[in-house]
Amino acid sequence: MEKRDFLKTSLAAIGMFFISKPVWPLDFFPTTSDSEWAILYSTWCGTSRDASIWISEGMDGIANVFDVRENPDLSKYKYIIVGGSIRSGETSKELQVYLTKHKETLKGKVKGLFAVCGNMRQPITSEQYTIFFDNHLAKLTGVTNVPSKVFLGRITWGLMEPETRKQMQSFPNMEEYDNLKRSDCMDFGREILKSIKF
Ligand SMILES: Cc1cc2nc3c(=O)[nH]c(=O)nc-3n(C[C@H](O)[C@H](O)[C@H](O)COP(=O)(O)O)c2cc1C
Repeated sequence: MEKRDFLKTSLAAIGMFFISKPVWPLDFFPTTSDSEWAILYSTWCGTSRDASIWISEGMDGIANVFDVRENPDLSKYKYIIVGGSIRSGETSKELQVYLTKHKETLKGKVKGLFAVCGNMRQPITSEQYTIFFDNHLAKLTGVTNVPSKVFLGRITWGLMEPETRKQMQSFPNMEEYDNLKRSDCMDFGREILKSIKF
């Protein structure tokens, strides 16, 4: 084999390795290797990803964190927390499809629910709990009576799809904001842990 061909073949093989890499929770995220906990989230611009990581941090890092777009196999986990960011009153279609497809498997394992929304930068009230949990995530997961939390989120123009950004910027007084608090997420992680009787 020519040296150039050899190099090409080797590079292609390396490329295939990276393409076919198995789904893995956030690499190098500090967590225990035999974790029984997983957090499944959906996001557009990353707020729910950060909320998930901070919830896990509140649990001393025992939860592995998965974006639903990875289509993770969560069957090995004993306890699962589910949450996502809100657009037009609901979580992403990917999360809804995943939860519908895996409803039976997840049902006995879901130990916490969360949602992240803008709520026009107003404080969260019982109305958001009804819309996001009672009418949405509780139905999709078949789970009620687990710790549930609505967090205020954020807007980052540079991370938004151009069309969406244009649409959002056309609303009066719409500007970037960041209302997600790490301490609130960590507290929620602790609350979920406390709710489990080991
Ligand atoms: C197109 C769009 C629609 C949204 N719809 C809602 C909504 O219906 N209710 C709400 O409270 N917040 C809404 N928000 C605010 C988001 O929930 C908030 O910015 C959240 O932090 C986004 O999370 P992400 O960074 O994970 O995508 C919307 C934001 C965008 C960009």
